[in-house]
Amino acid sequence: MVQATPFLLLLFLALGAHGLAVKKCSLTGQWKNDLGSNMTIYEVNEDGDFSGKYLTAVSDSSSEIRESPLLGFQHPPDESQPTFGFTIRWNFTNTISVFTGQCFEEGNREVLKTMWLLRSRVENIKNDWKATRVGYNTFWRLE
Ligand code: BTN
Repeated sequence: MVQATPFLLLLFLALGAHGLAVKKCSLTGQWKNDLGSNMTIYEVNEDGDFSGKYLTAVSDSSSEIRESPLLGFQHPPDESQPTFGFTIRWNFTNTISVFTGQCFEEGNREVLKTMWLLRSRVENIKNDWKATRVGYNTFWRLE
């Protein structure tokens, strides 16, 4: 019993250190990106499904910017630093955006590295070539 004590102590320290090294990163919460856009992600369920809302800071539309809904998946639902994807249906114009990315723990900050496509509606198939834009956004959690 006495001999087992140092072993148990070492095991406890090893598990503790491992626990600290686990990089969880959760999508739920409020985020701001490098353009100044704000995003809220509600609860991620056990299948990884989530919904949320997005207020973009920039737009190509002449209409007034309005908060818009988003729907997405986290994958896998329960692993650290997960990948994810979501779609935003813009409420004030007939475009649609898809984002794909990964949540990272960087130091003690969570950061979302994403890439997006923005699809505009065009009148005919001849204009399809110019209908999709592509870019990157980085998001940080709002404290
Ligand atoms: C539009 O102008 O058609 C709708 C708004 C698009 C906003 C884009 S989506 C990708 C990029 N990231 C943002 O936070 N906003 C822009």
